[in-house]
Amino acid sequence: MKIINVVGARPNFMKIAPIVEAMTRAPALTQVLVHTGQHYDASMSDVFFTDLGIPMPDIDLGVGSASHAEQTARVMIEFEKVCLRENPGLVLVVGDVNSTMACSIVASKLLIKVAHVEAGLRSFDRTMPEEINRLVTDSIADLLFTTSRDADENLLREGVDPRKIHFVGNVMIDTLLKHREKAASLNMLSQFEIEPGKFALVTLHRPSNVDDPVVFGEILGALQEISSTMPVLFPIHPRTRKRAAEFGFNLDGIRAVDPLGYLEFLNLATNAAVVLTDSGGLQEETTILRVPCLTLRHNTERPVTISHGTNIMVGPSAPRILSAFNRILSGDWKPAGPPELWDGHAAERIVDVLASPPLQ
Ligand code: UD1
Repeated sequence: MKIINVVGARPNFMKIAPIVEAMTRAPALTQVLVHTGQHYDASMSDVFFTDLGIPMPDIDLGVGSASHAEQTARVMIEFEKVCLRENPGLVLVVGDVNSTMACSIVASKLLIKVAHVEAGLRSFDRTMPEEINRLVTDSIADLLFTTSRDADENLLREGVDPRKIHFVGNVMIDTLLKHREKAASLNMLSQFEIEPGKFALVTLHRPSNVDDPVVFGEILGALQEISSTMPVLFPIHPRTRKRAAEFGFNLDGIRAVDPLGYLEFLNLATNAAVVLTDSGGLQEETTILRVPCLTLRHNTERPVTISHGTNIMVGPSAPRILSAFNRILSGDWKPAGPPELWDGHAAERIVDVLASPPLQ
């Protein structure tokens, strides 16, 4: 069977890497890798292919940035041509970005089977563009691969046929476990002149946090306060840098650097005293790294990172961020154990399902 694997934006790359690798060992499957081009900067895309050893995409749709409707539409127009030409038996999408939803819709309307990796996650917050992407993708996918039991329950509650759901674990953690040692060998700490366990690491890019000057300003205030206790390292997403400039915010005290590669970032996350983030994937990665994680959101679609991991929701509220930070300084934090099946073998389980009848 011919499978089209789709990637588009930064968090997709670490998810597709182990799947592509496992598929190369399955003689029954041939694969075509399509990059939609949703992310296109070298630091948001190319570096991940190099770091993770992903083969260069067979096809790049080059859609770039635009409004949600325009970006989604451009992906759909270009991806439809690819599907008609390649005639795949299955399209595999990962995560919850616009490219994920766009390609699922195209495939589904061409009667091509769709597999969604990381299905069933729900924040129950429809103001998040990703929640819409997740709901649409899961409602039309033929195979739904989940990372946690709560995701299975969400899908069952929405009426998804249980035969379509496969609880396989977390492909992002496959990648983390594979590259952990290599990342540890980098000398990021000396490069940034920081000490292990004595710095805060920040990522921020959600529209709800960075597109609103009041919210963004409050978060920056909290980060500036933390920077009086320890260095605050902030690899800054292009959207966030743009907004900070538009709002005329100064980032004094905060060490804002360009986005980092996968291995560089993993090295820093492993060594951080605390991670402050609004990313989904980082909540999962800190769970495995056992590094305290403060999530600057009101909700998470990944509750297992709270029940099993180091994660707590503090929202974009300065008092809550600072009080949680002080708890971490006092050594009062939660123990963490790996969630079920976050064991480095999720991609193999996915490929086992794809390579076995009756899908073939
Ligand atoms: C997208 C995903 C989000 C994911 C995030 C990870 C959607 C709806 N959102 O958000 O779920 O967590 O990626 O980064 O799919 N830009 C560049 N260079 C790039 C890419 C983006 O400069 O390579 C800038 C552009 O100004 C663009 C803005 O960042 O308009 C936002 O990019 P976009 O892909 O729309 O969404 P993200 O915020 O990156």
